[in-house]
Amino acid sequence: MSRLAGVAPSVLAADFARLGEEVARVLEAGATVIHVDVMDGHFVPTLSMGPPVVTALAEQVHGAGALLDVHLMVDRPERHVEAFAAAGADHVSVHVEATPHVLYALQAIRTAGCTAGVALNPGTPAEAVAAVAEAIDLVLCMTVNPGWGGQPFIASSPEKIRRLRALVGADVVVQVDGGIDAGTVGACAGAGANSFVAGSAVFGAPDPAQAVREIARRAAG
Ligand code: DX5
Ligand code: ZN
Repeated sequence: MSRLAGVAPSVLAADFARLGEEVARVLEAGATVIHVDVMDGHFVPTLSMGPPVVTALAEQVHGAGALLDVHLMVDRPERHVEAFAAAGADHVSVHVEATPHVLYALQAIRTAGCTAGVALNPGTPAEAVAAVAEAIDLVLCMTVNPGWGGQPFIASSPEKIRRLRALVGADVVVQVDGGIDAGTVGACAGAGANSFVAGSAVFGAPDPAQAVREIARRAAG
């Protein structure tokens, strides 16, 4: 099984004043992937974080044997791949809608030594993955519109996840992102997803460690 599989807590929902402590709690709970959401105020209207946050987390996350998964919600992501790789990213996902050069961007990610993912907005058909299937280790299926945490899961997503799994085969990770919690993760896993990004359901919970374990348990069926 890919090292990218499993529950991937999104630090977007963490308390940034205590980021190290927040990450330590979910790593102790068994999370092996930490998801970092990068927003540029163009591709999505919001702004979030950049390479310095990846640098700040790299030693702690790698010391625990876990991976840093960077989700670029930015226009022309190929311009930023090297900076995130140098900051310590292990995996980088780019949106197919964000660049006319998505294959180039994916190749640049692998050249930089990271695994590569393509992300699809809710309005983008699953079939968009076919053209870049050879160049990816992961396909990220947005299960909300990108740009904000805490939104409700789009109910039609499992159908799209099923199509994506059929298109990419067994070896590519199918990641779901947005509105994932103990109630929605089962349908995603049942449809073929094997990586589960969760922000508010983890860091908004009274006990984030318990939330990670519960989402993992529900994902396993
Ligand atoms: C949304 C981001 C997500 C976000 C998920 O644009 O890509 O990773 O952190 O947040 P929740 O889990 O709260 O929907
Ligand atoms: Zn994300």
